[in-house]
Amino acid sequence: MSDQATTRSLRSRRSNLAVPGSNPKMLGKAKGLPADQIFMDLEDSVAPIAKAEARKNVVAALNEGGYDGKVRAVRVNDLTTHWTYRDVIEVVENAGQNLDCIMLPKVQTAEQIHWLDMLLSQIEHTMGFEVGRIGIEAQIENALGLVNVDAIASASPRVETIIFGPADFMASINMKSLVVGEQPPGYDVGDAYHYILSRILMAARAYDKQAIDGPYLQIKDVEGYRRVANRSAALGFDGKWVLHPGQVEAANEVYSPRQDDYDHAEMILDAYAYFTSEEGGARGAVMLGDEMIDEASRKMALVISAKGRAAGMERTQTFTPPE
Ligand code: GLV
Ligand code: MG
Repeated sequence: MSDQATTRSLRSRRSNLAVPGSNPKMLGKAKGLPADQIFMDLEDSVAPIAKAEARKNVVAALNEGGYDGKVRAVRVNDLTTHWTYRDVIEVVENAGQNLDCIMLPKVQTAEQIHWLDMLLSQIEHTMGFEVGRIGIEAQIENALGLVNVDAIASASPRVETIIFGPADFMASINMKSLVVGEQPPGYDVGDAYHYILSRILMAARAYDKQAIDGPYLQIKDVEGYRRVANRSAALGFDGKWVLHPGQVEAANEVYSPRQDDYDHAEMILDAYAYFTSEEGGARGAVMLGDEMIDEASRKMALVISAKGRAAGMERTQTFTPPE
């Protein structure tokens, strides 16, 4: 695992706010919301005749600044269109130093990531930017992308996230439903998204990337959003898109550890560090209260602790070594 990959995988991305690049007013408002990431869209929320203007809006919004530690991403058009190269060149040449990631939608093969990686390197060299700083977010939105997700995740150290795009995905596999994220009627033997989410999650974890769930389109139904978000959060996903300010808080909550889990994780780390030390008796398996902890417990605790720390949580308990 490279240091670069580690740093990239630690950015908090519980809520990923989508903002149409064609809407300067919404671009201006987005940075005031408590989302971890803002992605400015040049793809499906922007009409073909508005694409050129949207690129300009996005460049202006990025250069205006004020994002206060949020991850700043731009979703370009996918590589089956003729817009992609201009999207990347115009945005990165003009606002590359104020941008964290390019999101590539409908990724189907590792070669598409190689293309973007090379183009970014060329622009960074030309402009005198730090080469390799701008990350890539890969959206998996069709069957071919899912089949190739391991190769996509490992195609470049720039890849930071693997994102599920449920709407396009449902269309790509002919799923018999128009309600994004909800179970297709007639499928009564489990969760129709389980395989897709798990497949994405395995690729993300195998290559130290973040796994991000996609949009929930019933934007007024915050309870529905929570229900669907809870599923991917329970599996291990790091965050989810938000399409409306009303969904931001729900995402931040659902993808953060609960306070008692966070406290517990920090206690395990402290206790394990103490008991494995000379002073603590150099033991590998010990009791913390009624629970036995060992190296595997430490690894599980590290995950929760990293998520809590990235989310800015504070612990409310401290470990005291026994007398
Ligand atoms: C998002 O892009 C989706 O297709 O769900
Ligand atoms: Mg899509």
